[in-house]
Amino acid sequence: MPSDCLLEVKDLKVHFPTDDGLVKAVDGISFTVDRGQTLGVVGESGSGKSVTFMTIMGLINRKKAHVEGEVLFGGRDLLKMPEDELRKIRGNGMGMVFQDPMTSLHPYYKVGTQIAEAILTHRDMPKEEAHKKACEMLDVVGIPQPAERAKQYPHEYSGGMRQRAMIAMALSLNPDLLIADEPTTALDVTVQAQILELIGRLKEDFNVGVVLITHDLGVVHDVAQRVMVMYAGRAVEIGSRDEVFNNPLHPYAWGLLESIPHVDQKGTRLVPIEGLPPSLIFVPPGCPFHPRCPHRFEPCDKEIPAFIDRGGGHPEACHLPIEDKRRIYSEREAGRRSRKAAS
Ligand SMILES: Nc1ncnc2c1ncn2[C@@H]1O[C@H](COP(=O)(O)OP(=O)(O)OP(=O)(O)O)[C@@H](O)[C@H]1O
Ligand SMILES: [Mg+2]
Repeated sequence: MPSDCLLEVKDLKVHFPTDDGLVKAVDGISFTVDRGQTLGVVGESGSGKSVTFMTIMGLINRKKAHVEGEVLFGGRDLLKMPEDELRKIRGNGMGMVFQDPMTSLHPYYKVGTQIAEAILTHRDMPKEEAHKKACEMLDVVGIPQPAERAKQYPHEYSGGMRQRAMIAMALSLNPDLLIADEPTTALDVTVQAQILELIGRLKEDFNVGVVLITHDLGVVHDVAQRVMVMYAGRAVEIGSRDEVFNNPLHPYAWGLLESIPHVDQKGTRLVPIEGLPPSLIFVPPGCPFHPRCPHRFEPCDKEIPAFIDRGGGHPEACHLPIEDKRRIYSEREAGRRSRKAAS
């Protein structure tokens, strides 16, 4: 593993047995996250984004899910670790922030107390010191008058402040990795921008690795250095932000990029991706995207494409030869430009 690699996930599978059948929520995903880097994770609803990272955090009930693969953090496989050691890592090594802070903040306890308690679960220190640290962290995340605010309950905070408090809690134990699962979806646009700015600043100041799960490609474009595109429980493309936005290789990524007004492409008419994501119980054979792919050909409905890097640190899973991809993508781009000119 390179020295700045914080997290390495190898062929992770998370399958849930249900009355309707086996839900293959995550089905063989591999990727890395580096220190000081933000990985943006995108994909339609139900593509397995949250389950992937909840599993990495150890928040999936292993009695109700079959989990396979490796999750290497600091060189150790978290999937093989006993629960008590894992609990230490979960607090110390990784922190997670969710879409709705009200689900993570307890309504009956003061915000400062909750952060202090989280610190005390993992650190042996006097209560007053933990409380002082909690106030410091509220200050770090930009909550004014932190000592006063620490004495308030979550409902006395605005949505943006609650999200800041969650980030303060996640960072209070100096984790190496911060996982943010749609941290700004519930917030208005101005507050969203402030929270993203905060996460970006904390990444620099604390040199943490950040995973940002979002539906907003504009956000990914603004804050991520690497991008992972997920489809049906797998990564279909991973690359640098510039590679994925300027030179996307997978037809699903083409569809995603065309379906969303890009920061630089205002005025372009939207072309939604036709069809629906597959059921994760009855995943289509071959490439799971083939029923929706306008470029499918002979092997696509039979053989699962391997997730491979054909050079440039930009792996993807698709049967199309690279020359065909370049041609098709430039034709699609030309089509988009002419639609834009006509609109
Ligand atoms: N405990 C569970 N039991 C059965 N199926 C589950 C369980 N948890 C998640 N799933 C299924 O796993 C799939 C992936 O869910 P996940 O929440 O990871 O999607 P997501 O990409 O985060 O979607 P969204 O963008 O809507 O948040 C979904 O089909 C979901 O219904
Ligand atoms: Mg989710």
